[in-house]
Amino acid sequence: MSYPFQIKSLEQYHIDYKKSLEDPEGFWSGVADSFEWRKKQPFSKKGLDWNFTEPSVKWFEGAKLNITENCLDRHLDSIGDRPAIIWEPNDPNEKVRTLTYKVLHKKVCEFAQVLRNNGVKKGDRVCIYMGMIPELVVAVLGCARIGAIHSVIFGGFSAQSIADRLYDAEAEYIITCDGAFRGAKDIPLKSIIDDALIGNRTVKRVIVHTRTRTPVSMIKGRDVWWRDEVEDVVESMHEEVLKVPAEEMDAEDPLFILYTSGSTGKPKGVVHTTAGYMLWTTYTFVNVFQYNPGDVFFCTADIGWITGHSYIVYGPLLAGATCLMFEGIPTWPDAGRFWDIVDKHKVNTLYTAPTAIRSLMSYGMDPLKDKDLSSLKVLGTVGEPINEEAWHWYDEHIGKKKCPIVDTWWQTETGGILISNLAGVTPAKPSWATLPLPGVKPVLVDEKGEEVTELTDTHYSGNLCLTMPWPGILRTTWGDHERCRQTYFSTYENKYFTGDGAFKDEEGNFRITGRVDDVLNVSGHRLGTAEVENAINMMAGVVESAVVGYPHELKGQGIYAYVVLDGRNRHEEDDQLTKQDLLATVSRIIGPIAKPDKIQFVSALPKTRSGKIMRRILRKVAEGELENLGDTSTLLDPAVVDEIKEGKI
Ligand code: PRX
Repeated sequence: MSYPFQIKSLEQYHIDYKKSLEDPEGFWSGVADSFEWRKKQPFSKKGLDWNFTEPSVKWFEGAKLNITENCLDRHLDSIGDRPAIIWEPNDPNEKVRTLTYKVLHKKVCEFAQVLRNNGVKKGDRVCIYMGMIPELVVAVLGCARIGAIHSVIFGGFSAQSIADRLYDAEAEYIITCDGAFRGAKDIPLKSIIDDALIGNRTVKRVIVHTRTRTPVSMIKGRDVWWRDEVEDVVESMHEEVLKVPAEEMDAEDPLFILYTSGSTGKPKGVVHTTAGYMLWTTYTFVNVFQYNPGDVFFCTADIGWITGHSYIVYGPLLAGATCLMFEGIPTWPDAGRFWDIVDKHKVNTLYTAPTAIRSLMSYGMDPLKDKDLSSLKVLGTVGEPINEEAWHWYDEHIGKKKCPIVDTWWQTETGGILISNLAGVTPAKPSWATLPLPGVKPVLVDEKGEEVTELTDTHYSGNLCLTMPWPGILRTTWGDHERCRQTYFSTYENKYFTGDGAFKDEEGNFRITGRVDDVLNVSGHRLGTAEVENAINMMAGVVESAVVGYPHELKGQGIYAYVVLDGRNRHEEDDQLTKQDLLATVSRIIGPIAKPDKIQFVSALPKTRSGKIMRRILRKVAEGELENLGDTSTLLDPAVVDEIKEGKI
């Protein structure tokens, strides 16, 4: 496997970057030559057809392919016996599983047939709710093989969240497990699915894989066992199953939906399509990490998030890489687990989140004792701004100052990395994501949408937008294109607005400072303040609430909730209990990841005369900045602020 599009020098980066902006169609068409197409050209329309007003983005529409043939089939002759996935179980004493490209291909073909046998067709939505086991990859690729649209839901979301997503996606099929192991916990996935399905009349079939052997209810006519279904296929078709053609997809056919939080309303289903996403994940994987065939790549994300989609499943497999997949958590059985894994599997690239680094840092040096990390060549971070202290710790103690660190900035909506240094090729700068990838044209704008041209100290500062489409950009939000337009393309004319603020230095490096909208980033998990408020407001006795983020040493951001209870439900001696009820309610409605870190009961929220909550003040109080709250003269009742500051009523 060679990568003709791999950038090998700073000079080449600049040449390719320029080319990609001057002639995007030509540039990406060249990259596309490295893939297998059923029909590459002529495209029915243009190579790239776009506008950011509707918005409409189409790359290579009319070209035909199946992404799983690119992930699997085309590697069989050359690297069929190379490990595609090395799976490290939650329990370090359980056996490691290694799936070669041949084995993974066979499993995907068999499971694709299971899906067909169960009535799943091209375009159908299949919800996947599983733990981090190889069968999750098989389920994802099985869907892609038959053209079904997968929608993976992270195992930390509640039944209610699943029900909302099933409804929104009009999903008729679910793939799940009896349970999932995560550290010392077993998560009863099937039982959560059962709760999500109460009253649901749309879902026709639930395929259940056995992992934890937790007793589960199995409803006749709806629920089937994964193992039985695969056995049926193997017995009836034998090797013939490998010859069933994969579904032919258009370049612009949807590949998957992934729900993500925004500043308003319920999470929306970000839609990615086939060819553009394929090009983008491969190109960024190979270039940012400077992947070399044979290297072991370890991405610690969960496949329930975009990082796992792009850099555990698609990017690595498309590049014929060996990917390490880990079922458990970094701190179990102890805080040396990542380092054990690096040592045991001779990991070459480690890609993780600042929140994990900060958490592991807090355990000191002990967990690193006797761990051989000398196989590491490249380190990566993703998901939130990395503070300099964590960056230096990662560099010194994990990379031993020999490994370039790539700080990769991107989003669910972008499909893959947009701004990052390229390991060892373009320079790193602690806590700066640095330069845009080829195809990416970032610009910083002020409130009015004008490009920022004046320096503040040594850098420009503004809201980060992108002015042209790269192949991996989202195409729509499922079932509601207008919401896509409103959310991303209406704030500034002809620009995709990221929701992030950023600095840019005079060399063109970017530093992402964090969200400027009402989106929280808690331990790298994205949540909307409105979403958390809605969950809190569903608790009996709550009149209203306001949620803001505040700096949290380990999580990056913590959730601070101001809650107004009605008089009858407010008994100070019960405050602790009421807080527990509130946490249980939020867990039930969204999931444990959305539980507020701090709850303050207040008698009223600071509002303007027109009824708008003044979040600025709430943010400052949450940050502990009680002085300089700014202008409070427009408040309906300024006394409310004093009460909030005192922290009691
Ligand atoms: O605020 C940015 C932050 O994560 C947001 C996107 O979250 P999500 O869609 O869940 O995707 C996370 C994984 C790609 C962004 O708007 N973010 C992501 N990477 C970085 C980052 N902030 C700073 N530096 C990064 N490297």
